[in-house]
Amino acid sequence: MKWLSSTYVFPLAVITLIISLCLQCAWIRQLYLAQKQDVRNKLESIVSNASKQTVYRSVARGRERSSRFKQFFLSSEWFSLRQAFDDLKLDNLHSQFHYGIDNDSTVVEMRMSFLNDPKKHFNMSSSSKTDNMSPRQVSSDDQRDLKSLDSLVNHQLQQFGLRIRKNYALYDYSSGKLIKTVPFAKSSISFTSERYTYNLKFLHRYQLVVGNIFWIVVFQMRYYLISSLMMLVLTAAAFYLLIRLMKNQQLYAKARMSFTSNMTHELQTPISTIAVALESISKYHLIDEPEKLQNYINISRHELQRLQAMIEKVLKQEQMDIGKIKLQFTLVDIQSVIKQVMLSMDIQVREKDMQLILVPAGEPYFIKGDAMHIANVCYNLIDNALKYSPAQSRIEVSCSVANHELTINFKDNGQGIKEIYQEQVFERFFRVFSQDNIHNVKGSGLGLHYVKQVVDLHGGRVALQSKIGKGSNFMIILPLYEEN
Ligand SMILES: Nc1ncnc2c1ncn2[C@@H]1O[C@H](COP(=O)(O)OP(=O)(O)OP(=O)(O)O)[C@@H](O)[C@H]1O
Ligand SMILES: [Mg+2]
Repeated sequence: MKWLSSTYVFPLAVITLIISLCLQCAWIRQLYLAQKQDVRNKLESIVSNASKQTVYRSVARGRERSSRFKQFFLSSEWFSLRQAFDDLKLDNLHSQFHYGIDNDSTVVEMRMSFLNDPKKHFNMSSSSKTDNMSPRQVSSDDQRDLKSLDSLVNHQLQQFGLRIRKNYALYDYSSGKLIKTVPFAKSSISFTSERYTYNLKFLHRYQLVVGNIFWIVVFQMRYYLISSLMMLVLTAAAFYLLIRLMKNQQLYAKARMSFTSNMTHELQTPISTIAVALESISKYHLIDEPEKLQNYINISRHELQRLQAMIEKVLKQEQMDIGKIKLQFTLVDIQSVIKQVMLSMDIQVREKDMQLILVPAGEPYFIKGDAMHIANVCYNLIDNALKYSPAQSRIEVSCSVANHELTINFKDNGQGIKEIYQEQVFERFFRVFSQDNIHNVKGSGLGLHYVKQVVDLHGGRVALQSKIGKGSNFMIILPLYEEN
């Protein structure tokens, strides 16, 4: 699928993420609205239930409690009828319950009045006839029932685990006028219930008023929110890893191609040189000219050594990659290893007219390691500093100890490495391309990969600080050998 190249993968992943984010948001919004409605329904049912119960209790108090009596007053039919009748207040139609004592009986009348003259208004008189009850008594009974209803509401709210800021408003039964207001700002009110009577005195109606229910709804949705957040994070992480993997693969393929062409070129040069030398020897009968012959033989030997070194490097890397190399751990004095490496590189340093300095540490530092591989690590890092720094610059090697760890710094003031490449330089075959995509300095891109592998095998780590144009500091951090 050529069209599905990596160029499209990133925008495709971003679009997919955005779409799934939008879908999640839409879904969470729907869920929030549904949950909010659910909380509202719960609150409404709490108040209506409490109203049913309080009416029943106020009626049943002191009377014989027959089950049919209870059944009737707690029935939904009676409740619906009461609500419908209480709410029926139109321009020329008025409905009202009347409560009164007639001889020995309590009378509850349902009265519906039509105004014959629409221009006139209803005369809103108190609905109760309290023949043998003082108004004070009625009012105190009403207060008691109101308290009972409110505490029942509180109790049920607690039972449902709804910790909310609540209060109630009280309305006059006949006129519908607000008697007791709520001390909440209007904007902070999330829910107001229907108005309910709570006894058969028909003096007032109760309305539950609830403050902000946002956090209650969010709390109810917590599992959905967490799972949806997790899904988003996991999807994003999966896409991120996939894209990173693809980019690395691409980079690796590119680096490998460049390695192949580089190596082919590197191998061909000595072969051609040796071929030309041999041909010259036979063509010009150099056997008769021992001096010239010796010169050609020297050139060929040198080229063969170079060829062998290159092949060895690749083979060593191959063995390292498949874990075939076994390290010989001994006690290593790190500074004497560095000194030896520096000595062996003296010619290269002189050729480039550079300064290679080991900052004296004052005391020897020891590690448990393979002296040969540690020396190779130092060689590679100094070789890089020489290759990637201009002539006459200064390379500084220093050792320091902190927290039972030894840090060896290889500091140069060469060309530096861009931040985006600072991790990749340790990957196999990776070489930083110059602007025109051409490598100015020869190399296989294996040196730093080898360095990292050896350091890892010693239980250490590598670190790099570099600024383009300013220089680099490669740090090798190894566990320090301490006698106690
Ligand atoms: N001191 C340094 N300053 C600037 N760039 C560096 C330095 N050391 C390494 N690099 C960059 O990191 C790349 C990888 O280095 P590495 O040593 O792995 O490979 P190389 O030097 O190209 O080849 P070789 O296998 O011969 O060492 C180099 O090609 C170079 O671009
Ligand atoms: Mg190198």
